[in-house]
Amino acid sequence: MSVKHLHHVTLAVPDVATQKTFYNDFGLIGKTEGDRAILRCQGRNQDQVIVIPGKTMKLHDISFGTTKTGLADIERRIKRSADTVVKHQPKEAPYDGIWLRHEFDGMLYNINISDPEVGLGGPTPAKKSSSFDINTPGHYKRVNKKGGTPFDTKVCPSRLGHVVHFTTDVDRKIDFYTKVLGLKLTDRSGDFIAFLRVPGGSDHHVIAVIKDDKPGFHHTSFEVNNIDEMGIAGQRMMDKGYRNGWGIGRHALGSNFFWYIRDPHNGLAEYFSDIDYIADDRKWRARDWPMEVSFFLWGPPPPAEFGRNFEGTRKTTKPKPLVLSRT
Ligand SMILES: [Fe+2]
Repeated sequence: MSVKHLHHVTLAVPDVATQKTFYNDFGLIGKTEGDRAILRCQGRNQDQVIVIPGKTMKLHDISFGTTKTGLADIERRIKRSADTVVKHQPKEAPYDGIWLRHEFDGMLYNINISDPEVGLGGPTPAKKSSSFDINTPGHYKRVNKKGGTPFDTKVCPSRLGHVVHFTTDVDRKIDFYTKVLGLKLTDRSGDFIAFLRVPGGSDHHVIAVIKDDKPGFHHTSFEVNNIDEMGIAGQRMMDKGYRNGWGIGRHALGSNFFWYIRDPHNGLAEYFSDIDYIADDRKWRARDWPMEVSFFLWGPPPPAEFGRNFEGTRKTTKPKPLVLSRT
């Protein structure tokens, strides 16, 4: 048995308060406990991003949830794995469950017993969105009523959908995620990028790994209800002075709409909607896609820094609010 869902991610940064403000502006709600910030999606009783102090920006750990049986199976596989070891709970990021380190790159993982719909904190169902009807030739779903989303819509991302990180060896991380945690490979593009999902019903990916010359954090990704909400939320982040990480566009692998916002420590947070969902693992065949068709279907050209690994940077960027000219 495998991990069942992505639970949360812990980021270490020099300025916890500034990072917390970024995620609050992004649409998450948060609280401060000691020197940590804990952020959640509204309507979901599950931690999604934990921010802890660090000398430089670093992906501290990735946390997954599973069942009691799943946890026991994973513990057995850790013991058989040559480069994965069980660790003590870190005092800077305490969390129930087991902790393990992939010795290959030193990455830390937490596996806890939790339900994807309720999390560790109690039975709060995940938020369900109203339908978003689109008219296309021959398929008119919205008739006799105005389309579009109200201007004053408050956009609250509903869940952390995936985390993407850098690795020096894509195949070695695929081995770890599939053979130790039980994830499944969904798609890849050579030895540059790979997408992995949980078995038994999952978004196209809950984890993706990108080749680089060192490990590092690339982005968190949060689901919004539709492309209108994505446009509204992304534009509001631009108006608040945050940097456009990349967007708006549509990915090729995963098929999701995307808009990435650069956080104050040079990580990225992505809004996504309409991602591919694999309900039956027997009906999906993992393929190796050429780079020219795997990256994005449409959108502006990605900024040069989109693929840069900023882990280890001390830089903190304060947002510069947009000043509108009245002339
Ligand atoms: Fe993403």
